[in-house]
Amino acid sequence: MATITLTVNQAIRELSDIDPTTPLLWVLRDHLGLVGTKFGCGKGLCGSCTVHLEGVAVRSCTMPLASVAGRSVTTIEGLAGEGDELHPLQESWIEQDVPQCGYCQAGQIMSAAALLNGNAKPSDDDIDTAMSGNICRCGTYQRIRKAIRAAAEKGGAA
Ligand code: FES
Ligand code: FES
Repeated sequence: MATITLTVNQAIRELSDIDPTTPLLWVLRDHLGLVGTKFGCGKGLCGSCTVHLEGVAVRSCTMPLASVAGRSVTTIEGLAGEGDELHPLQESWIEQDVPQCGYCQAGQIMSAAALLNGNAKPSDDDIDTAMSGNICRCGTYQRIRKAIRAAAEKGGAA
């Protein structure tokens, strides 16, 4: 067991007496109460657990807590701006009515946000490549693409 400190959504969080091999996903959900990040496959294959590590999209279900010690994690709860201001992708998601059951959508938005952080005007191929690891059992892929394109046109990186 160990004490590990990391930054989550710009707040420093200290986790005491914790197994450092605990996957980040369960630290977020069970220890920090951030349940927007979802468990899907637990094997790094579906993307529902996607968060940002230093701005890069990562799978939190396969990332041991020890590997993020001292680093900065952003979850869907921390993506919006100050106050009620939504991230441009969140606005687009609402405008395009993207979700069906919604289960995969936090991970989808986090992958899309990481894409726009590094590529403000992605091509359709860029979008397909960046989003290829995010599975949606409801098949909302066309609306996801449309929402990413719309956010990019509005200057989508927050
Ligand atoms: S739950 Fe992490 S990739 Fe599926
Ligand atoms: S909206 Fe249902 S799994 Fe994607």
